[in-house]
Amino acid sequence: MIAPSILSADFSNIREDVKLVESAGADILHLDVMDGHFVPNITFGPKMVKDIKQITALPLDVHLMISEPEKYVGDFAEAGADWISVHHEASFHLNRLVNQIKELGCKAGVVINPATSVDVLDEILPVVDYVLLMSVNPGFGGQKFIGSSVEKAKKLKGKLERINSGALIEMDGGIDLGNMKKLKDAGVDVFVAGNSIFGSGDAGKAIAEMKKILNS
Ligand code: DX5
Ligand code: ZN
Repeated sequence: MIAPSILSADFSNIREDVKLVESAGADILHLDVMDGHFVPNITFGPKMVKDIKQITALPLDVHLMISEPEKYVGDFAEAGADWISVHHEASFHLNRLVNQIKELGCKAGVVINPATSVDVLDEILPVVDYVLLMSVNPGFGGQKFIGSSVEKAKKLKGKLERINSGALIEMDGGIDLGNMKKLKDAGVDVFVAGNSIFGSGDAGKAIAEMKKILNS
């Protein structure tokens, strides 16, 4: 699946940018929520999610890079989020939070930062719908892909297979046409891409080329 991240879109032209990636074949839309506390950047809150819900049929994949996510998951679900992911590093009671997200009717994902080992996920893996592996330090678009993320995806894939889990592996940060094939082979199912789509000059063409790699 291809999940364009609107972080790199033009917020003053968001309707057109969303329509463009939707008609180019995007599978879901990745929305990065940042609070200036958990990460050193600020983006938007539930209102933006609600407004985007009105202009697209794509499922909304909300990536919460915020402190105290348990306070806000209800607001994002109400705004129209279909998938909600929360950081392992931001939650003291992750099992409760993941169940809370599922009870809200959303797919629940857990995210880990580049410096966090996939081993911390062992107890939560049977409960999650997806795991989001950060392949850059969260906070900004357009950063360089951290190469060791490929091995991390392989390790996580092995863990999921051993417990017969159908949970998806999503990867986020620095993804482009040059690293997608090896990530696909490593077990990545959902590819978040901001800069390599919206910064390419031709978002439609970028998505078409990405789809070619995923279907090869
Ligand atoms: C980074 C965000 C990403 C970001 C990825 O903190 O979580 O979703 O938009 O952007 P690119 O694809 O440009 O690295
Ligand atoms: Zn993200």
